[in-house]
Amino acid sequence: MNPPASLPLPPMLPGLPLVGNAIDFRRDALGLFRKGYQRFGPVFGIRLARNPAVVLVGPDLLRLFFESTDTLLSMGEIYSFLEPILGDKVLFTAPKREYDEQKRVMLPAFHGKKLRSYVGEMTAEVDEWLDTLGPHGTFDLCEVSQQLTMNVVARAILGEPFRRRLGPELASLFKDLAGGLEFVLPTNLPLPRFIRRDRALRKLREILGAVVRERRANPDAHDDFLQALLAASYLDQPTIPDEKVVTFVLGLIFGGRENTSGHLEWALVMLLQHPDALARAVAEVDGVFGPDERPDYDSLRSLPWLEACVKEAERLRPVTHTLLRLAAQDFTAGDYHVPKGWLVVAGIALSQRLPALFRDPERYDPERFSPERDEDKPYHIVGFGGGGHRCWAAAFVNNEMKIMLGMLLRRYELSLVDPAAPAKLNDIGVLRPAPPCMVRYRRRAAVVA
Ligand code: HEM
Repeated sequence: MNPPASLPLPPMLPGLPLVGNAIDFRRDALGLFRKGYQRFGPVFGIRLARNPAVVLVGPDLLRLFFESTDTLLSMGEIYSFLEPILGDKVLFTAPKREYDEQKRVMLPAFHGKKLRSYVGEMTAEVDEWLDTLGPHGTFDLCEVSQQLTMNVVARAILGEPFRRRLGPELASLFKDLAGGLEFVLPTNLPLPRFIRRDRALRKLREILGAVVRERRANPDAHDDFLQALLAASYLDQPTIPDEKVVTFVLGLIFGGRENTSGHLEWALVMLLQHPDALARAVAEVDGVFGPDERPDYDSLRSLPWLEACVKEAERLRPVTHTLLRLAAQDFTAGDYHVPKGWLVVAGIALSQRLPALFRDPERYDPERFSPERDEDKPYHIVGFGGGGHRCWAAAFVNNEMKIMLGMLLRRYELSLVDPAAPAKLNDIGVLRPAPPCMVRYRRRAAVVA
């Protein structure tokens, strides 16, 4: 139903001719949202080139954003930039019936006892990396986090032997794929990065296609995510076509790639910048598992402080700092009328710094998640989204972070070579520690003994 036409349109932040607020939006979305919020409150308008957009700030409006159905706030057009990357429609860009089917066959892989089973794969992968480090040295956190998080997800999805066979080539192919992300230009221009994107896509589909065919020929020996996909029916067919299986695997690995590595980078950087929080995390980890032990699923539950530190990084440096939808109908946001066709922007980075929700919000303070303060209320922190499209892998990633950070802290003393760890915008407008972000490490005495 349309809202009362008597409501005004959202007040607009002034911008430049032609581009509107697009440059500020890309360079400093948090600063732009702060300006709009201070001037107009939690609902205001900006212009992204020719497109008017309404920005929503605060938990009530984020609930509206995340809990509205796709028929009101649509994702399909917004995420269409993924199609040239994956060479197919997947999830949000697929028609509703296909999206529902994809969710039915894939979501169980991220819940229940499956989650438990990934812990062994994750700890084995981290252990292998730690064994390459030796007694002391430095590593580039940006490089390590890309490689490690990609290996972990590939191993969880495809199984250990296939992940090993894919080796370091996998990370570089995904890098070329990500380099082809484009939101403005036509994606078929003969630019070198689009050519690299297409070449990487062909190669990845070829490699994964061979994995799928091989698995179909030898189905018995496996009990993992890929096997579950191969055994599933899809729409009206008894099995999922191989090409679709490839798209799903590609989509999952690609979808989590940048986010997970960025999240790990910020979580570690912020810990290393805050010695008190770091000391407490080290003491907690020491009390839960031994120096050469791999934590199990249950011991991960005994790391509340480390978990709070990871969440505080998610609050202050959300890798998905902004999410978008397209208004498929007119609707009401606060006291304003938002017309069909406007972009709708979730102002996540700013919401997560509102003084009304968080005490001393600019401060890194994991204590805010203690039971006494409990500042993590519904829709206060939404780095993993919310509602029907909330990230499937939130619990998977939470375990992954605790394993990577926990095992690293258990074995090594760490510090940042440049404690300021400057940030830099990456190609898709996300603020990340600037590479190289060098970390110095020394094996802890107890471990040497
Ligand atoms: C730190 C890491 C990650 C972050 C911060 C993150 C964040 C998000 C967010 C914000 C959404 C909602 C998007 C929207 O509403 O527009 C989302 C959706 C999704 N994420 Fe993640 N993600 C992460 C890692 C992963 C990984 C590793 C995977 C898979 C292996 C994954 C799979 C998905 C899927 C399948 C959806 C779509 C859910 C749906 O539409 O039903 N994510 N993620």
